[in-house]
Amino acid sequence: MQRRISLIPQPQQLTAADGELDLSTLGAIAADPELRSLAWLLSDLLARGTGLRLTVTGSAAGDAGADNRVLRLALEGERPEDFTTAAEAYRLDVTHEGVDLVAAHPAGIARGIATLRQLLPADALREAPAAAPLVPLVSVADEPRLRWRGVMLDVARHFQPKDFVLKMIDRAWLHRLNVVQLHLTDDQGWRFEVPTRPKLTEIGSWRAETVVGHARDAQGYDGTPHGGHYSVSDLREIASYARERHIMIVPEVNLPGHARAVLAAYPELGAGQNEPVCPTFGVFEEVLEPTQAALDFALEAYTAIGEVFDGPFVHIGGDEVPMTQWESSPVAKALMEQEGLEDVHGVQAWFTRAFCDHLTKMGKRVIGWDEILDGGAPPEAAVAVWRAEAYVKKALAAGHEVLVSPQTHVYFDYYESDGEDEPLRIHGHTPVEKVAAWDPAPPGVDESRILGAQCQLWSEYLPTPRDVEYAAFPRMAVFAEVAWTNPEVRQADSVLDRLEAHLDRLHAMGIGYRPLEGPRPWQRGGTGRRRRFDWESQAPVAE
Ligand code: ACM
Repeated sequence: MQRRISLIPQPQQLTAADGELDLSTLGAIAADPELRSLAWLLSDLLARGTGLRLTVTGSAAGDAGADNRVLRLALEGERPEDFTTAAEAYRLDVTHEGVDLVAAHPAGIARGIATLRQLLPADALREAPAAAPLVPLVSVADEPRLRWRGVMLDVARHFQPKDFVLKMIDRAWLHRLNVVQLHLTDDQGWRFEVPTRPKLTEIGSWRAETVVGHARDAQGYDGTPHGGHYSVSDLREIASYARERHIMIVPEVNLPGHARAVLAAYPELGAGQNEPVCPTFGVFEEVLEPTQAALDFALEAYTAIGEVFDGPFVHIGGDEVPMTQWESSPVAKALMEQEGLEDVHGVQAWFTRAFCDHLTKMGKRVIGWDEILDGGAPPEAAVAVWRAEAYVKKALAAGHEVLVSPQTHVYFDYYESDGEDEPLRIHGHTPVEKVAAWDPAPPGVDESRILGAQCQLWSEYLPTPRDVEYAAFPRMAVFAEVAWTNPEVRQADSVLDRLEAHLDRLHAMGIGYRPLEGPRPWQRGGTGRRRRFDWESQAPVAE
């Protein structure tokens, strides 16, 4: 019986013929030299899920033995620049003669492999042989709509172990996303080693305890230390794991605000407060003082992280920086006079400019949250718009490229339904249907200046990988389609109709996704009691 083909994201063009190809009838994976590592990765994945062991040979005719039927990975045509939609385009033909996966750039081959993995039975995504290597006969011609299709993991509010980060990179790959942003620092923890600043990890990477329940409706503290950080070797492993799959890691070091963990480690970089690493969630007034010492610290951290991750972007954070500390700071006042800054927002702009200058010299591009617009930012900085769509137009008008990541549609720490059974969330309402109906390019904007789109997994109320999985899936799969597939293709075949079949893949991969009908009883967790906090009235919801 022919299986129904339910890919997510939907390729731009797909035609299917009757029948299937049994990959075990092929002689080898025949790959151009530059594609050897991807070919071995594919061979390894096929072996794990189906038991089929295909060796990798050169692409020259005759290498593959007997009847020369192969799974061919080949580069053809003029090489596009890195990090363009053309670089991720591919053609995939599955016929009785073999598999032909062709692209002009290795990134396109990586995307085509993700599609091929979805064409196999769902059970082929397991870690040990559980399915036959059968692929339906198809012809796919595909290219993403947007250049940057990302997911942000907040490993700061709750540390996520390295193996989970690797898993999420793999899941991003399977959904043809190409960016994983790591939110590495926040008030509640500093999560990576900077060898010249040992106190960041000795002191800044753990907190004594965590608030129970919603931070605005605290039910006490749990009395349990929480912490963790990635060593330089961990970061290198994450970097090379992502590089093999043509996924860009964008490390975020969030400064000059959200700095409580930094200031717990190095209080001299602040205004004299002596606060611990933060045990609760929100926006806090302690920020870096605009001193040379604080700036030197920040540049050291950006250098360290920019050297480990070789991708073109570093995220400088910049969101939710209260101005209160600087308003009464003699250091800030002196800086404002010296630099002729109009108001304290100029102090943040002073930091932003210095971060940009430094990272540009390192050959990096900077991206920051949309608050960097408030005091002004160099136009070469890209802006991640999260607060409201109005900032997309504001950022474009100021000459920035924009990453569209609005809280209204792609904050996956928001509630998935109105149901009583949902685990505790920060607030919001983002059911999967709302994600499916979203278009990342607001009407009337020049799409060529839209860098892309990104979903966020803030982790205040996602304490464990299981909680992150529940929040991420299946919304992240739907998001991937929104970012990849052209609107007319999406309209012709709703992603919601393909979702049920896709859940079988998530299940095979062991992902604790949210069933479409609602949480399973043991998925109702979170931190503390599940008493909702009503953001509008700023009060607990009556029980
Ligand atoms: C943000 O949600 N504060 C970027």
